[in-house]
Amino acid sequence: MNTTTHLLYLGTAVCFVLGLHLMNSPATARRGNQLSAFGMAVAIALTVVVLVDDGTITATAAVVLAVGVLAGAMAGLVAARRVKMTAMPQLVSLFNAVGGGAAALIAFTDALPGAADEAISTTLTTFLDVLIGAITFSGSLVAAGKLAGVVPGRPLTFRGSRALNLLLALTALGAGVLYTARIGGLGTLGVLTGTALVIGVLMTLPIGGADMPVVISLLNACTGTAVAMAGFVIGSTPLIIAGALVGAAGGILTKLMAVAMNRSLLSIVAGGFGTGDEQTAPAIAATGTVRTVTADDAALQLAYAGKVVIVPGYGLAAAQAQHEVVELAQALTEHGADVSYGIHPVAGRMPGHMNVLLAEANAPYPQLKDLDEINPQFAATDVVLVVGANDVTNPAARRPGNAVSGMPILDVDKARSVIVVKRSLGHGYAGVDNELYTNPRTAMLFGDAKAVLTALIRELQAYVR
Ligand code: TAP
Repeated sequence: MNTTTHLLYLGTAVCFVLGLHLMNSPATARRGNQLSAFGMAVAIALTVVVLVDDGTITATAAVVLAVGVLAGAMAGLVAARRVKMTAMPQLVSLFNAVGGGAAALIAFTDALPGAADEAISTTLTTFLDVLIGAITFSGSLVAAGKLAGVVPGRPLTFRGSRALNLLLALTALGAGVLYTARIGGLGTLGVLTGTALVIGVLMTLPIGGADMPVVISLLNACTGTAVAMAGFVIGSTPLIIAGALVGAAGGILTKLMAVAMNRSLLSIVAGGFGTGDEQTAPAIAATGTVRTVTADDAALQLAYAGKVVIVPGYGLAAAQAQHEVVELAQALTEHGADVSYGIHPVAGRMPGHMNVLLAEANAPYPQLKDLDEINPQFAATDVVLVVGANDVTNPAARRPGNAVSGMPILDVDKARSVIVVKRSLGHGYAGVDNELYTNPRTAMLFGDAKAVLTALIRELQAYVR
């Protein structure tokens, strides 16, 4: 490789880093995405040119590669453009699966006849690449299935899973050691892959309820790590840099999600491994009377409120009611109310889901308050309008023994009055009854979020004119 090639690769790395930096704010995130994608396109094109130039592949092979890249890029483009906002989390999981699977396949080049490198560093990275990549592949497929509702979202466990997991871990380790020492070859790598695939499935199946966000972030970090390992196997600097960045960003996100859920990462993964032999805590049945309110009465309350906090959740995304909620907030603000949005870090189905949704509808960014900022304000809030949020407001989280136990929640029950917009008394993702709904300060406004918010905007006109 000559100096120009090195400089061009350096340029692509700069694009990745700057792109990540721009993703810090919703205002610049789109540009960040475009810059990173540009960097990756240049890195791929450059790699093909370099491979042809140094005789590693023939021109015909380059054409085959180009066709493959184009087909993959088209499939990704169509999937990303067509996906509904509510199906985005499962698409992200599928992309994680593809990344992990591709990285694991790359490692096999090290074991092909004639390609074997005796260096321990290469065999070790090959072992780690296959292990992490294959676990990520099958784990992400199961996670995508859970998010799409194809696989049950609750923890799926079975008796004896702990012993099976231990056996699988020892098999993977044994195969890894044999391969690293070059005692085993392609067959050993095959055993390792099969074992890792089963580990990925068994690691993700027992995780459910509120712990999914942490696992999705973890799988994302694993994809990056596997890709970086693949970069070491084939000596590709851009792969190492891109993989390390994704691995590090995913690692930080995993830590943030674990903190948001008040869980240690080890307790989630090891807990998932262990739950097979234990009983999961039953859901708590909500008792008490549920009060309902009409859109007219709710609009009246909102019109006379000095401070309003809107708490969006997954139901807002499902109803695609982000424009209506922002329109309502604007009307209240113009009427003189102090309006903010209380954003829980795991509200919705993917990290930052509510921020993305509200940014799409141009909600003023200063009105978006995170958990720590908004919680002390609830006691001085006249009306909290919960729109399609459930688990993130459930006071049951303050007690042990259920699927949301320990998760910090938005303390909406401390406000003077709470209006909950959803279609029924149905559960949220974690499958736990919400005690907020029987709180005497709470009134339920049943209906689809979009229809209810439209009605609220209409009714409000009578009071704010
Ligand atoms: P959830 O607890 O999932 O509750 C959403 C509520 O929205 C449901 O109870 C549903 O009740 C209501 N809903 C659905 N469609 C609606 C519509 N069209 N109109 C009005 N309401 C509608 O949501 P949340 O409070 O945002 O909490 C998120 C949960 O997902 C947490 O448990 C979190 O751990 C988990 N999770 C999060 C992520 C990430 S990374 N954010 C990833 C995976 C899982 P009805 O059916 O009665 O309407």
